[in-house]
Amino acid sequence: MILFRGAVDLRPRRGVCMPTNFDQIIERRGSNSLKWQKYPEDVLPLWVADMDFAAPEPIMRALRQKVDHGIFGYEMPSPQLAETVAGRMQKLYGWRVSPETVVATPGVVAGFDLAARTVCTTGQGILVQPPVYPPFLSVHTDKELLRQEAPLSLAVKDGNLHYSVDLDRFEQAIHSGGARTGMFLLCNPHNPTGQAYSRSDLTCMAEACLKNGATICSDEIHSELLPGGVEHFPLAALDPEVGNHTITLIARARPSMSPGCSVALRSSPTGSCWNAIKRPSCRMRCMSAAWAWQPHRRRTRAHATTGLKP
Ligand SMILES: Cc1ncc(COP(=O)(O)O)c(C=O)c1O
Repeated sequence: MILFRGAVDLRPRRGVCMPTNFDQIIERRGSNSLKWQKYPEDVLPLWVADMDFAAPEPIMRALRQKVDHGIFGYEMPSPQLAETVAGRMQKLYGWRVSPETVVATPGVVAGFDLAARTVCTTGQGILVQPPVYPPFLSVHTDKELLRQEAPLSLAVKDGNLHYSVDLDRFEQAIHSGGARTGMFLLCNPHNPTGQAYSRSDLTCMAEACLKNGATICSDEIHSELLPGGVEHFPLAALDPEVGNHTITLIARARPSMSPGCSVALRSSPTGSCWNAIKRPSCRMRCMSAAWAWQPHRRRTRAHATTGLKP
């Protein structure tokens, strides 16, 4: 299943893509930018994945079309978008994703929450690999879940810091702290270590999860931002059985340099998660969790709690 954020259809149109001008300096102070207003003026902010280049022309054009249309009513994710995503996965990785498994989420971090609520039961654990992007560390909170940790190993290689998976430590962390591991939250490529996991590391981690009945939620938001020569392996595409137990989170925000206007996608192409979603009760749970993020639903809930009619 795949989840995405935003309602604008940003599919690129053939033959009209213009290159981004990386030499153009755009003043962002005074534009309500989180990155540029967090610190005093004399600090050059380099702390967040938020680039200072203009978004690519196809995105600008799609947004202009939307603005020119002049109406900003409620929208649903379009079937064409799901097809575009499936096509991209096929093109980039030879990974066959069924468009029906593509589901929208307001963002990748929101997808963590949705995945945890869908696959974990009260008292279970969520396994993470610190040091990791901070929102990974708080997914368990307010859900009666436990955080389980399998820290990455740090070594110095050729004068550079290098993090790697310690597979013994990984296996020991599964079902640790007196809780069964419901979900392993993988970050691949890994933020902040920059590690793109090898096929063999991914296979070993996936096998350990499958052996222990844990679902994998794989955050692959940075999969299209890799240095030359480094290959990305979508975990769910490694093996059909692994795919059966994996929820993949992707977004076009990173490659398109538009994190504040992003689309995130959640995919569990064929397997037990998707089969679980096919079961009406689980599908309802997942769909209603995703639906709760829609702006008009939030308004409805506010009305409900104040007793006013929406
Ligand atoms: C690994 C990782 N996942 C998710 C996100 C945020 O994704 P979103 O803004 O779609 O919630 C980031 C942002 O830097 C990130 O580094």
